Amino acid sequence: MADLEIVQFIARSDNYAVLMHDPDSGKTASIDAPEAAPIQAELEERGWQLSDIFITHKHFDHIDGVSDLRRAYNCAVTGPRKSASETGLYDSTVADGDTIDFAGHSIKVIETPGHTLDHVSYYIADQKLLFAADTLFALGCGRVFEGDAPMMWTSLKKLRDLPDDTMVYCGHEYTLANARFAVTADPDNEQLAARLEEIEEQRAADEHTLPTRLGTEKITNPFLRADDAAVAEAMGMADASPEEVFAEVRGRKDKF
Ligand SMILES: [Fe+2]
Repeated sequence: MADLEIVQFIARSDNYAVLMHDPDSGKTASIDAPEAAPIQAELEERGWQLSDIFITHKHFDHIDGVSDLRRAYNCAVTGPRKSASETGLYDSTVADGDTIDFAGHSIKVIETPGHTLDHVSYYIADQKLLFAADTLFALGCGRVFEGDAPMMWTSLKKLRDLPDDTMVYCGHEYTLANARFAVTADPDNEQLAARLEEIEEQRAADEHTLPTRLGTEKITNPFLRADDAAVAEAMGMADASPEEVFAEVRGRKDKF
């Protein structure tokens, strides 16, 4: 079985579009559909036919392109069961623990609510790929709109449990702003300080900072480290629970 080819590019202003292509079968999936035109242009340039769209959550900047892409390619649209009736866009729905076959690769559905209640992440163990959309970002996490901080923390811990060598694709290029905040939440973390410098250089050169390696996130992303003494201490919350520390980190980032 061949490895999946992954292509990532910007759509809208700061959303990432991601295409996943199986060279053997020709099947091609879009992870979310932020905007039809750039996705269609990329498909045409590569001579790929879109067979599937996997939706992570119901926000407009993740589903806006679905109808046009379906019209153009007659592709199958899969999305979270929890937003099926609200969006009216999915041909089939998924919930926590479901597995979907994509060209012989098993995609595991991990419910990661918090940003929205319907949010799911897609994990392909044999390819070491995680599509975390607006739950986990490089050095950040999504804003908690519909859930609460303990819910988001629980979701992030589910993703943190995956292997270090997992490559994480995210919904947005927010890494530099996240990095500038992260160093305030984990000020003595030398690996984080080094990573901020690297990210500043990458962004100055207009390079993508994603995907990111999960093992790197585990040691540098303060939103995955709310149960680490260093982050609790930086929040002035040495005796607080990880849920409370996480809520404080998220709250400070919202105002940063
Ligand atoms: Fe979102």
